[in-house]
Amino acid sequence: MSLLSVEGLKVTYGLRNPVYAVRGVSFEIFEEEFVGLVGESGCGKSTLGFAIARLERPPARIAGGRVVLDGRDWTAMSERELRPHRWKDVSVVLQSGMNALNPVMTIEAQFRDVMVQHTDWSEPAIRQRALEVLDMVHIDRDILFRYPHELSGGMKQRVVIAMAFLLHPKLIILDEPTTALDMVVQREIMDNLMELRGREKFSLLFISHDLGLVLEISDRVLIMYAGQIVEENRAENLLEYGLHPYTQALMRSLPVPGSDAREFHGLRGSPPNLRQMPKGCAFAPRCDLVTAECHEVEPDLEDINGAKVRCHVVGKEVRVRGSEPSIG
Ligand SMILES: Nc1ncnc2c1ncn2[C@@H]1O[C@H](COP(=O)(O)OP(=O)(O)O)[C@@H](O)[C@H]1O
Ligand SMILES: [Mg+2]
Repeated sequence: MSLLSVEGLKVTYGLRNPVYAVRGVSFEIFEEEFVGLVGESGCGKSTLGFAIARLERPPARIAGGRVVLDGRDWTAMSERELRPHRWKDVSVVLQSGMNALNPVMTIEAQFRDVMVQHTDWSEPAIRQRALEVLDMVHIDRDILFRYPHELSGGMKQRVVIAMAFLLHPKLIILDEPTTALDMVVQREIMDNLMELRGREKFSLLFISHDLGLVLEISDRVLIMYAGQIVEENRAENLLEYGLHPYTQALMRSLPVPGSDAREFHGLRGSPPNLRQMPKGCAFAPRCDLVTAECHEVEPDLEDINGAKVRCHVVGKEVRVRGSEPSIG
């Protein structure tokens, strides 16, 4: 069953001469599915994640499309109508999520606030759930009575993740949840998230610039470039071959197992300025496979053997062969 359906979503910044940061994005997330969203910094991942949860704030604005979550059109609902569904239908954790904790309230008071405002749970039930979510992220129960400044960055980020689980949300959006943390803490949190999958029923949208992390945790991956999805594919397929030349370049930049060296081949230049988008394919100026058509006509996101790819060249190559793509 589809839990989330994003349909042609467009998000702009600014009213006069707006910048399109999300340019017509469509995808689904099924119940209990883990989906990754990956792309270089500035490609619109956070803008998209925020808009899905209707947390976009001016100058950001939804300029088109729909977000249907658990059968409700979130783009057609007022903040007042959305309120009862916040934390329950979707909860969001940001990279700087730990800074979202209120410095003058204990962790317990902040957990309780969410539960009191959004449920009619009894006192014992509230206390019970607070302890449960702390156990889930392997934090000592004593920290309930601490203030945020008494905790390390990694602990605070775990607290924010625990908080996201309080009301058993159907969808959790994690936006670069470990990017600000050191490698050891990052590893612990990733392992923890995978372990939670067996414990709680939830779908995940995992947003990161780090394709390696995304592949590790996701069933399906969306590759984003300049405000659009350029490839949608199963993680296990991506480990074999990326279809889009951008995906292939990202794959080539992954660290080689067993080696400390991080080799970067391929990804020359930088993403386009969203104010001055090139004609045709947004990736063309950086693409090794570029043809004349790419500079003229913007490719559509096409279905190819159960995956989706926005590329003239790869699309044709696979159609000509009529079988398994073997690019890369
Ligand atoms: N507050 C803002 N005001 C104007 N433009 C913004 C703002 N935040 C982001 N943008 C624009 O949206 C684009 C996408 O940003 P963002 O969603 O943060 O990307 P990502 O999360 O992939 O790094 C940026 O390149 C920038 O042009
Ligand atoms: Mg971001």
